[in-house]
Amino acid sequence: MKHKTIIEPFRIKAVEPIHFSTKEERSSYLNDVNFNLFGLNSEQVTIDLLTDSGTSAMSSQQWAALMEADESYAGSKSWIRLKKIIKKMTGFSYIFPTHQGRAAEYLLFSIIGGKGKTFLSNTFFDTTRANVEASGAKAIDCPVTKNNLQDYEKHFMGNMDLEVLEKQLKNKIAGVILTVTNNSVGGQPVSLSNAIQVKALCRAYDVPLYLDACRIAENAYFVKHFEPNFINYSAAEIALQFCRLSDGVLMSAKKDGLVNMGGFFATDNKRLNNYFRDRLILKEGYVSYGGMSGRDLEAMATGLEEVFDEDYLQYRMASTNYLGMGLKKIGVPVLYPTGGHAVYVDAQALYPHIPPEEFPGQVLACELYRFGGIRSCEIGSVMFGHYNTKKQFVPAAQELLRLALPRRVYTMSHLDYVIETFEFLKLNAPKTVGLRMTHRARQMPHFTATFKKVIED
Ligand code: F0G
Repeated sequence: MKHKTIIEPFRIKAVEPIHFSTKEERSSYLNDVNFNLFGLNSEQVTIDLLTDSGTSAMSSQQWAALMEADESYAGSKSWIRLKKIIKKMTGFSYIFPTHQGRAAEYLLFSIIGGKGKTFLSNTFFDTTRANVEASGAKAIDCPVTKNNLQDYEKHFMGNMDLEVLEKQLKNKIAGVILTVTNNSVGGQPVSLSNAIQVKALCRAYDVPLYLDACRIAENAYFVKHFEPNFINYSAAEIALQFCRLSDGVLMSAKKDGLVNMGGFFATDNKRLNNYFRDRLILKEGYVSYGGMSGRDLEAMATGLEEVFDEDYLQYRMASTNYLGMGLKKIGVPVLYPTGGHAVYVDAQALYPHIPPEEFPGQVLACELYRFGGIRSCEIGSVMFGHYNTKKQFVPAAQELLRLALPRRVYTMSHLDYVIETFEFLKLNAPKTVGLRMTHRARQMPHFTATFKKVIED
């Protein structure tokens, strides 16, 4: 007998109270933070779907591992254990711990980047793009956009567009970064066949390929389920195949490492190893701890093992799908099929009367907070809009709202509450007004932007 209901493959051992507030209190908090949800105190939030990064609940084994941790400055047993697990996961021998993903990005692009160079990706995450650009190099996205895909490919909208990639590779390219899953494009996975073809092109043009592997276990689970050729492989075996196609792996362990802090870079390239090691010591700390404590290393080692448990991955995909389907059923426009770590709502479709210059995604984030105390993240013109040389505002390609699911944190009833809140939002949608941006930083503006309502209440 096989049950239809997929349950959380864990029991809850420690609980943390969540905080409730009234709609009036939340309206006042929104004014206090100038309609930027990054400004809220977490105690003003009931359900926090701002990010899946660093927000995982640790397992009892991870908490136990903290006590086992070795805080020696050099050569700690915790580091040796973590190195062994990363070697097994990636196949690489030169491994560098960093305090989070962007630290690894900064170190890598300070070595391989620089003025006059160009990097390509299925889509750069914003910190990756910022680190490429900070080195003086250019970052170009080549995501798939085609609709004439084979059936199974519809599950892999995170793929690289191979034609665009090949066209770009004819110009001198310094490196290709494959982001699995593709966070900026709806958290959509990349198929292993696409990665194999990307590698073949990189090899033909003698260009190195790097993997941004933050969510590689979730990506591997999609491959196992939707890519006919790989059904008989385990998620861990599929992840290893992805890594072996690359010349190096960057990972923010704050996602699929199931930890609150951590990251690494791994490669077999000897020259890169020497450069990376010297810069790591200067910026992050000695090679056996990077920016982390022994406790962090232990938690990450255990997290990287646990994340490939297929009961866990099945529950993870089922919960994202449950939220996506639930919203779809009540007529909320979501990107479908859902990706691994988040559900993306098309805010422009929900608010057709609010133009991109008035930030429908940010409006939706504020409304979701006002109606339900739910914090989420705009992925639209606040994050990706920019001014061109004529000082005209160029909006993002899509106005999305991301509902990111922290790992092992919320239950099905929390997700039901989110779905119910959207019912109120939908009713109120025609009366909802836009926002005007009153401050915008040059880099990563979403963290510090401030807004005012275009029509005051
Ligand atoms: N690459 C991807 C695909 C990411 O999603 C992130 C972070 C990073 C790199 C950088 O890692 O935060 O450890 O420095 N994404 C978070 C998010 C912030 O909310 O999606 P980091």
